Amino acid sequence: MCGIVGYIGYRDAYPIVIKGLHRLEYRGYDSAGVAIVNQENDLKVYKKAGKVRDLENFVQKVDLTGSLGMGHTRWATHGAPSDRNSHPHSSGDRKLTIIHNGIIENYAVLKEALQAKGHIFNSDTDTEVLIHFVEDIQHETGLDLREAVRVALNKVVGAYAIVIISVDDPDQIIAARKGSPMVIGVGEGEYFIASDATPIVEYTKNVIYLNDNEIAYVRRNDLLIKNIDNTVQTPYIQRLDLQLEMLEKGGYEHFMLKEIYEQPRSIHDCMRGRIYPEQGKVQLGGLKEYTEKLKNVDRIIIVACGTSWHAGLVGEYLIEEYARIPVEVEYASEFRYRNPIISEKDLVIAISQSGETADTMAAIELAKEKGATIFGICNVVGASIPRITHAGVYTHAGPEIGVASTKAFTAQVTVLTLIAFYTAQQRGTITQSKLIEYLTELNTIPQLVEQALQVNNHVHAIAQKFKDSANCLFLGRGSSFPVALEGALKLKEISYIHAEGYPAAEMKHGPIALIDEDMPVVVIATKHSSYEKVISNIQEVKARGGHIIAIVSEGDKEVREMADYVIEIPQVSEPFVPLLATIPLQLLAYHIAVMRGCNVDQPRNLAKSVTVE
Ligand code: F6R
Repeated sequence: MCGIVGYIGYRDAYPIVIKGLHRLEYRGYDSAGVAIVNQENDLKVYKKAGKVRDLENFVQKVDLTGSLGMGHTRWATHGAPSDRNSHPHSSGDRKLTIIHNGIIENYAVLKEALQAKGHIFNSDTDTEVLIHFVEDIQHETGLDLREAVRVALNKVVGAYAIVIISVDDPDQIIAARKGSPMVIGVGEGEYFIASDATPIVEYTKNVIYLNDNEIAYVRRNDLLIKNIDNTVQTPYIQRLDLQLEMLEKGGYEHFMLKEIYEQPRSIHDCMRGRIYPEQGKVQLGGLKEYTEKLKNVDRIIIVACGTSWHAGLVGEYLIEEYARIPVEVEYASEFRYRNPIISEKDLVIAISQSGETADTMAAIELAKEKGATIFGICNVVGASIPRITHAGVYTHAGPEIGVASTKAFTAQVTVLTLIAFYTAQQRGTITQSKLIEYLTELNTIPQLVEQALQVNNHVHAIAQKFKDSANCLFLGRGSSFPVALEGALKLKEISYIHAEGYPAAEMKHGPIALIDEDMPVVVIATKHSSYEKVISNIQEVKARGGHIIAIVSEGDKEVREMADYVIEIPQVSEPFVPLLATIPLQLLAYHIAVMRGCNVDQPRNLAKSVTVE
């Protein structure tokens, strides 16, 4: 939550900062602000509730030249979205200014102590407290700003990625991180700072991912990184594997639609170099050193949130079916606050698109403390989760900018399919001939997803019929149950229609009471093991006047006779159904949301990267 950008160098900072804020807007979009130090060392701060576009309009006539600056786009935690709570925040003497992503948990105690000393606050935020605290330390101890920031950070509890500038030293940016992401772009005589690499990539491909508890002291021609215990760190400069086109809409109306259409490629990228169908071999370099663990593991626990949790549920079906290992799938937010029974024998798989989700990170730390081995499945390279896990597999779906997850979900499911087959291969729970058959089919999935996308116009027409519904039910059985959950989540989060996913057979234990002639029911009814049972469930809905939208296998006749609308997907073997059945549900949610006039890329109240619990 919250995106931060900073620049120090020889160019005008404002255009870099504002463009960066647009790129980071997926992280939060309830308010935005910038601070620029100009040639005369005047600090200009402008901030506004609303989107980055509103901020741009607000500063249109203002002179914002200056080669040192920073900006922030906010997802409110402490204090409602308003002009006064927007970042940047300044110290009492207005000399220091800060932007912050994260939460200072002990801010209330600090605030009280500072108020007792006469500090006056202009916002309800934890961030303003932090900058007053730094000012206070300087005032009380006479320390220079670098030291005062370090001392302050040793005393705050919580998570942060911060950038601080001072009018007294216009050749310096101080940046620090703990628990919230921060990347430094290294240019010639210039540095870029941001929550992720997207604001940086067009200027430089050389980046440093700051580690937790590190502080960067950045000057135009100098960078020093220290740990908060004051030891100097050697920065590790990496080359970014990110193209600018990946960050643009490329002719699509929304990022979400672009990302839905990218799935043939993203699934392909996710499998590239990992499957060898002719040899019946799966190769997962990231797990190589843990093959013995996979062979002997007694139990797998999958931890994740939201859409990633749904992918985990699909993984449960696949791993249990093919690798014959018991799997439990836990909401990371629940797992972390139970006293879960975990031992060194367990393997925990954490799934996260962003690699930054606070609950998932806390679940990982807890499982680690208890001695479990942790694998990560992440999309964002270099994010926090891949750093705290023992091993892992990247999804390689490319940047996902639409807040509702689409291509990251199918990539996660693809990785879990690979893990299931890899483990089955290691444990000898699948025959070589079956593996060859499945991998050969898996190899064709990108083309089949391409084919599945051709239902777009048909789905658009169905969306037209149901766009005004107040509720919607999604049903599926087996591995199509998590797909139903995911379909319901997509619809509710972007269209604000109340939607629920249920295992189809559970409907008669309660939700059936909701069915009437106003209720659309989306059923995944492909020709697989539960086909006949799902048909019975469809009849139960029809008998009560509900409208059936069925996702069926190509050429299906039986369901067609009962359903109000059918959407065909290519016929595939059972393990691959989730990858295809998800596609029309994403399109349905997308079209309904667009027809209702919703902002599909930035749904209300949501943020892409949930770094608070
Ligand atoms: C829904 C969605 C969220 C995320 C969840 C976890 O479309 O995107 O439910 O899946 O916030 O995020 P990650 O995967 O980044 O840990």
